[in-house]
Amino acid sequence: MAHWEDETLSNDYTQGSVIRDLTAAEADEEAGVDRALRPQFIKDYLGQGRVKDNLTVLIEAAKARGESLDHMLLSGPPGLGKTTMASVVANELDVSIKVTSGPAIERAGDLAAILTNLDRGDVLFIDEIHRLNRAVEEVLYPAMEDYVLDIIIGKGPAARSIRLDLAPFTLIGATTRTGLLTGPLRDRFGIAFRLDYYLPEELQQIVERSAQLLDVGISKEGAFEIALRSRGTPRLANRLLKRVRDYAEVRADGSISLEVAREALSFFEVDTLGLDNMDNKILDILTLTFAGAPVGLSTLASALGEDPDSVEEVYEPYLLQQGLIKRTPKGRVATPRAFEHRGLPYNAGGDATQTSIEF
Ligand SMILES: Nc1ncnc2c1ncn2[C@@H]1O[C@H](COP(=O)(O)OP(=O)(O)O)[C@@H](O)[C@H]1O
Ligand SMILES: [Mg+2]
Repeated sequence: MAHWEDETLSNDYTQGSVIRDLTAAEADEEAGVDRALRPQFIKDYLGQGRVKDNLTVLIEAAKARGESLDHMLLSGPPGLGKTTMASVVANELDVSIKVTSGPAIERAGDLAAILTNLDRGDVLFIDEIHRLNRAVEEVLYPAMEDYVLDIIIGKGPAARSIRLDLAPFTLIGATTRTGLLTGPLRDRFGIAFRLDYYLPEELQQIVERSAQLLDVGISKEGAFEIALRSRGTPRLANRLLKRVRDYAEVRADGSISLEVAREALSFFEVDTLGLDNMDNKILDILTLTFAGAPVGLSTLASALGEDPDSVEEVYEPYLLQQGLIKRTPKGRVATPRAFEHRGLPYNAGGDATQTSIEF
C-alpha cells in the first residue's frame, strides 16, 4: 500500500548547513547509516533517563498482564529520537510495528485498511500525528478507545453503520507540535512523553556508540567536541560524526582526536553552538533587523516566512534553552550571549526609533 512505509522511515525535517544540500544518493546513504545507528532496545537508547524509567515499568506491566501497551504520544523537536523510541517500544514488547504518518493517511478508508491489518498487540506508529485530517481522526477515536471501527456502508436512506472489532493495538503518535493536536485526540493517549534536548555528555555517549558501529576510532575529547556542536540533537550528532569521519580519512589518519574534530568542524563551518541556518536567521532578525528591540511572535514568524506555531514549538526551544533569546511580555529579545555569538556589540532594547515596533 502506498501510504505504508516500513521501519526505514527517515524523516528529514532537520535543518543545518551540513545537511541542507544532499544529493539523492547521499540522502539514501544517510538513511542507510541512520538505520544502522538507530538503537533497537532501551539499553542502547541513551539519555532521556526519566522517560526510559517510566517506559520500562509500563512495558513490564503490560507484558505481565498480557495486554497491549496504552496508547502513547511522543512530542519534541525533530531528531531527538521519537521514531527511534517507537521502534524500541515495539522491540521491547516483541511485537511488530507499522509505520505511517498523518499526511500519508488521506481518507478514512486508508486508516481503516491499516487498522484492520494489525495483529494483536502490534504497534501502529503515526508520525506527524497533528497533521491527520478530521475525518480520519474521527475513525481513530473509537479505534483507540474500544478497538472498534464504525463503518458506514451504502448511501442516503439505505446507509447503515456496522461495527468491526479490531485487535487490541498500541498507537504511538509522534509530533513536533503538541499545540496543534486536537483536545479529543490528545485525551485518548494514556501515556505522553516529551523528549528534551540531550546534554553534551549524553550526546558524547551517542557519538561514541555510533563511532564504534561505524568502526571509526575516536577519543573522548573528540566525541565531546562533536557533542557540543550538535544542537542537543542525536540526529545532528550522528551527521556531524559522519562528516568529521570523512575529514579524518582524507586529511588525517582516519581516527578522530580533539584536534581533528576541531579542524573538521571549522572546515565544514559548523556553528560553535551547533546552531543551524534557521537559528542564526532568528538571531539576525533580533540582533540586526530589530537591533535588540522586543519582537512579537507573529512579526518574527513572518520575517522568517514560517508560521508562529512552528517558530514557538520547533525553533525557539533550543535558543531559549541556550539562553540566546528570551520571551518577554513585549516580545522576543536577543540576550547578550546572542549578540556575542553573532559577533556584535550588545544592544539592550534597541535604539529609540526601533522600540516603537510593538505588536
Ligand atoms: N536516545 C538515543 N540514543 C542513541 N541514538 C539516538 C537516540 N535518539 C535518536 N538517536 C539517533 O538519532 C537519529 C534520529 O532519531 P529519530 O528517532 O529519527 O528522531 P525523531 O523521530 O524525533 O525526529 C536516529 O536514527 C538515531 O540514530
Ligand atoms: Mg521521526
